[in-house]
Amino acid sequence: MTGTGPTTQRIDTTRPHPARVYDWFLGGKDNYPVDEELGRRITAIDEGAVRAARANRAFMQRTTRMLAEDGIRQFLDIGTGIPTEPNLHQIAQSVAPDARVVYVDNDPIVLAHAGALLRGTAEGVTEYAQADARDPHAILEQAAAVLDLDRPVALSLIALLHFVADEDGAHHVVSTLVDALAPGSCLVLSMMTADFEPENVRRGIAAYAAGGVTLVARSRDDVAAFFGGLELLAPGVVPVSGWRAEQAPDGDGPVSLYGAVGRKPVG
Ligand SMILES: C[S@@+](CC[C@H](N)C(=O)[O-])C[C@H]1O[C@@H](n2cnc3c(N)ncnc32)[C@H](O)[C@@H]1O
Repeated sequence: MTGTGPTTQRIDTTRPHPARVYDWFLGGKDNYPVDEELGRRITAIDEGAVRAARANRAFMQRTTRMLAEDGIRQFLDIGTGIPTEPNLHQIAQSVAPDARVVYVDNDPIVLAHAGALLRGTAEGVTEYAQADARDPHAILEQAAAVLDLDRPVALSLIALLHFVADEDGAHHVVSTLVDALAPGSCLVLSMMTADFEPENVRRGIAAYAAGGVTLVARSRDDVAAFFGGLELLAPGVVPVSGWRAEQAPDGDGPVSLYGAVGRKPVG
């Protein structure tokens, strides 16, 4: 399962790509000079950017572990990114070796490294689909080949939706996906906000725009609006670094990414 036409999509090293800039923030090696250049420009504006990326990755780990410990055995992760250990399937399958995981991203570099996402347990399943989040029906079709959509699924769009503007259908994407999932399924979101450092975030958005990447910031209320019809789990919409964290994030200053988890009501 790799989606349509991935092998014909070339890795464009002439302009920055979100997956590769994020990889640079996390200290990875799967990025190019254009990505590093944008990463350095962002860290010059906001020295907390690297810390925010790490805090976001830790949020993914905590939420995945919590949902697996709560009994969820199926995971659909959209906007997966370049593999960075531990990956989501490693967390889920460390709790439940039979967990089934479907990863989705639209960047050809993620596909090129997908091999590392597919090395799971013998009892479980990991699959990768090359697809665009803005086409949720295509994603559901591919996911249904691996996941039983009549049983609960943890749907994660972590640090993804700030690349999808409301005008590009961000709410339609989330509601289409959530509508297709069984009661007891959970939605995990994180996305950028300008609530804490509006000027830095505004300059960061401009730097991404200069590199040809659309980035949008959302307020706490904007983020909460994605959870309509779901039960928001405590502590609600908070910076990712504060979502059920046992230890404070390294360094000082705010983390400009909100995170939250909601559950589809049962009965
Ligand atoms: C900042 S990374 C986040 C990676 C991972 N979810 C995490 O939080 O650690 C964002 C990812 O979303 C992917 N992405 C951006 N727009 C997308 C779209 N329209 N469809 C699918 N993936 C997309 C990028 O390629 C990138 O891998």
